[in-house]
Amino acid sequence: MKILGIETSCDETGASVIEDGVKILSNIVASSQPIHIKTGGIIPEIAAREQIKLILPVIESALKKEGLKIENVDALAVTSGPGLVGSLLVGLETAKTLAHVFNKPIIPVNHLLGHVYTNWITKSKIKNQNLPEFPAIVLIVSGGHTELLLMTDHGQYEWLGATRDDAAGECFDKCARLLKLGYPGGPAIAVAAAKLKIQNAKFKIKLPRPMLKSDDFDFSFSGLKTAVLREIERQSITHNPKLITYLAHEIQEAITDVLVAKTLRAVKKYKVKSVLLSGGVAANDRLREKFLDTCYSLPTTKFFAPPKNLCTDNAAGIAACAFFNFSPLPWPELRALSSLTL
Ligand code: KG4
Ligand code: ZN
Repeated sequence: MKILGIETSCDETGASVIEDGVKILSNIVASSQPIHIKTGGIIPEIAAREQIKLILPVIESALKKEGLKIENVDALAVTSGPGLVGSLLVGLETAKTLAHVFNKPIIPVNHLLGHVYTNWITKSKIKNQNLPEFPAIVLIVSGGHTELLLMTDHGQYEWLGATRDDAAGECFDKCARLLKLGYPGGPAIAVAAAKLKIQNAKFKIKLPRPMLKSDDFDFSFSGLKTAVLREIERQSITHNPKLITYLAHEIQEAITDVLVAKTLRAVKKYKVKSVLLSGGVAANDRLREKFLDTCYSLPTTKFFAPPKNLCTDNAAGIAACAFFNFSPLPWPELRALSSLTL
């Protein structure tokens, strides 16, 4: 079964064709990020207007790459939320129109679950390949969410915890802004942190690891951001590149320490077979490295992280999720589905 996925929840416009939920046939992502770099963050109205310009060319190139016609796909899958209302509306209305004109079923997909299902995508469709097994602990770390789930089957989730304030990606973004490292903050902090050894940057500053030892599966990152602000106020940081490098490294260590520790707690409690990392922050090398090291010491638990290009927003996970949770909406409900009702 070939599913055409469409994703427009934020500043990326994605279209992808996935076969049987695992094999990637095409994956096109266009981004309006260069515009948002100038403003240091996303202005929703501008992101939505860019989605309108990009959506049809992106869908066309996703189909063209495999010499496909929309008539040949079996279903459409589209992100129905959460996300920026104006951006979501563009994808939803496009998908609804295409489904109506070409008489295709349409499956609305939760954006966060789309991130999770990038862990099922491979380049081939080999039987018995190394796919995640249940039960699994799922950590979703994106710009707006930090969620820990227990997944016992496709469509079966138990919500274990989440951030009580800022998301992990949001913390990266806000700290990068404080350090004037640019947007998006996650990759900018990772690049700055990597210079630690070259610059031999050593300072006696230890940032907090919020809620590291709390007896639950919740997270909190706003205090970390405030601690960074206090350090910036205390030191004349703009004149000290070594201090910026050191703080970037310490921010990355603090965020990744907490994410790994809380996930490990859940892995041990629920004795799961797989750990699935997903969302934009999953592209962070240090986080992946710490997870690999940790799971190495757990012989019965396998660690999964999507390829880095599938960590940030894309439509491939949306199509994969739709395959494993195939539940097309009937037309009356579909017609009523709009990002304004989400
Ligand atoms: O999942 P995503 O593309 O969009 C949302 O659904 O929010 O995640 C975007 C977030 C941003 O906060 C960005 O700074 C972060 O993912 N991010 C990273 C890295 N690449 C993207 N954070 C840390 N390290 C990275 N390499
Ligand atoms: Zn996302």
